[in-house]
Amino acid sequence: ITKGAMLYEGKAKKIFSTDRPDRVIQYFKDDATAFNAQKRGTIVEKGVVNNKVSERLFRLLEQGGVPTHFLERLNDREMLTKKVAIVPLEVVVRNVVAGSLAKRLGLKEGEPIEPPLVEWYYKHDALGDPLLADEHVRLLRLATPEQLAEIKRLALKTNQLLQPFFRERGMILVDFKLEFGLADGRLLLADEISPDTCRFWDQTTKESMDKDRFRKDLGKIEEAYQEVLKRVCA
Ligand code: C5P
Repeated sequence: ITKGAMLYEGKAKKIFSTDRPDRVIQYFKDDATAFNAQKRGTIVEKGVVNNKVSERLFRLLEQGGVPTHFLERLNDREMLTKKVAIVPLEVVVRNVVAGSLAKRLGLKEGEPIEPPLVEWYYKHDALGDPLLADEHVRLLRLATPEQLAEIKRLALKTNQLLQPFFRERGMILVDFKLEFGLADGRLLLADEISPDTCRFWDQTTKESMDKDRFRKDLGKIEEAYQEVLKRVCA
């Protein structure tokens, strides 16, 4: 496969074309942003961690029957993926109260959520990624009701596969964000699954092992990302 022009640059990744129209290369950067890019910084070697962690989790999910865009990891910072049209939704699954849910509804951080909660946010920087009801998704024509039902099913299945995987590694999967894309009319799990897009708490100490260390200036950010890599890819 030959790398072509840059098609898109996001906050944490760049997307490059290839010599095949149905394949793209995802390049993982060390740039970190939070609070809709109001806070910016660098997490050294984050791109390498997120590339390798995403590879491991996409392989696990494919084996478990969740179709993904992942094809192969090319090197430390790049993976080859199927080209998809991203559905402009951030799909969040929550097992434990944290972050914006605690704030919005006045719930106590750390309370278990049973059954898991699935939410969608409009992927729209200028609007600040607002929370959407199913009816808003329909109004904005972001997905059909059938596609939204399939997205929810795949998001819950992903949670079912990831939860025991992290539990076995001494981590609590608090919540995570997924993005889906369409390729040949089929929904595929896309983007990345990494400490940038998940909340993990150490089972013993309850310490954050994810981007919350950057958001809340908790220190030892690089150390936490390396520890996630060690536990996930060992
Ligand atoms: O901020 P909030 O509590 O809604 O985040 C829920 C989950 O989604 C967290 O794991 C967070 O890292 C992830 N998220 C993300 N990208 C966003 C917003 C949230 O990966 N733009």
